[in-house]
Amino acid sequence: MKVIKVSNIDSLTREKVIDFFHETRLIHIENKHDVSEKELVEFYNHLGDPVKFDDEYMSDDYVQTYAKGFRELIPVRNQKISGYGEPGLFSGDDDGEVKWHSESQNRDTHEDVVCFAMKSMADSGGDTWFMDQKIMYDNLIKLFPELEEYEVDWRNRYSKEKPDNDLPYNPWTKWDEKCIKGGDGWMFNRMKDIDGEYLIDKEVKFKPLITKNTITNQKGLMYPYKTVYNLKPESNFLFELLEKECEKEEYRYRHSWSKGDVIISDIQHSLHRRDSYTGDRLIYRTAIYFPENNNDPRKKHLHK
Ligand SMILES: [Fe+2]
Repeated sequence: MKVIKVSNIDSLTREKVIDFFHETRLIHIENKHDVSEKELVEFYNHLGDPVKFDDEYMSDDYVQTYAKGFRELIPVRNQKISGYGEPGLFSGDDDGEVKWHSESQNRDTHEDVVCFAMKSMADSGGDTWFMDQKIMYDNLIKLFPELEEYEVDWRNRYSKEKPDNDLPYNPWTKWDEKCIKGGDGWMFNRMKDIDGEYLIDKEVKFKPLITKNTITNQKGLMYPYKTVYNLKPESNFLFELLEKECEKEEYRYRHSWSKGDVIISDIQHSLHRRDSYTGDRLIYRTAIYFPENNNDPRKKHLHK
């Protein structure tokens, strides 16, 4: 996977970011200085509108303590390892691992990019992996043009069972209490989109496999590797083809963090995952709607 490196946050403009996203899904800003919360938030607001989770998700106290009062910054850490206690925002599994996903994967309205800013390093581990599904699309579509006709079936994620299963995470039947109430650190039922609607109410049963990037208009795949088990219409052949393609090294990039790093990641045609880690790691996570995004839920009058 191609990564564009920039030497300092000051040298990057909105226009450059848009230019870069015509070539890649990932921008790595190597900062020589410790970027302050204020500087970070000013930069994010220059790019577009960062989503701010309200006090149903993070209390004022929490935001003051861990994000210098900026709701644009979601402090991501492991609640057990850090010892910060509740809530365990975006903490992932007990050891800090987060599986392959994209924030946009099962929603019809979503941000354009997600940004990560490294604040305090893990003692070990915690690399973040990225997967480019735009290049994957370019490679596959010539051979399998029928991919254009397919959708991802989200009714049976994480389980090979039928849509009427009652396993955790299946929103079409039953949600796992621990998951939605924050026991595993996600507190998913309290997360809201930029229009104030709950994300849980925005999940789709079917999502087109191929979408157009809202910034560049380029087409790409949004395939949730190892998460769903059906396409619509059903095709075992294409399902297995996509799973195998996602395993190829050429689409992947593994990021080992340095203090001060800021990553801007396209979330429309790429996935990311996090390795387990030790130590009290803190990353600020911010998802941003660019003004170009005509699928912004606040622009409902523009929607088809
Ligand atoms: Fe994520």
